[in-house]
Amino acid sequence: MSSNPFAESFNLEAAFADVSEYWSPNVVAQVNDQYVKVAKVRGQLVWHNHAHEDELFFVVRGHLKIEYEGRVVDLPTGSMHVVPRGTPHNPVATDECWIVLIEPVQTKHTGDVESPLTRTIDEQLRGSR
Ligand code: NI
Repeated sequence: MSSNPFAESFNLEAAFADVSEYWSPNVVAQVNDQYVKVAKVRGQLVWHNHAHEDELFFVVRGHLKIEYEGRVVDLPTGSMHVVPRGTPHNPVATDECWIVLIEPVQTKHTGDVESPLTRTIDEQLRGSR
């Protein structure tokens, strides 16, 4: 018996179809101590960092840029990138972009920054309950 509350299997396109709001991640799976999240993004999130956690971005559709202080990492469709812990960053997408995120269950997606776009972990779990 598993206590895993997530679907045993699911279609990624269908998981994205359930997402209606930009920058509002939806948790779709848990792997050990990490959540797998899907999100649609457009515009910019907010400058923030995660002091103790790396954060993986996988661009499924569209084009994402991760702004760092003094440089930008360009992530076209199919790209994967890990934001190192403790590093200030700001995700930006000119047009709608679909991303998969993998990050520890306790990671706050805007770090310690409270923004109008900040969603609690409970809000990010809403689709799985
Ligand atoms: Ni982040």
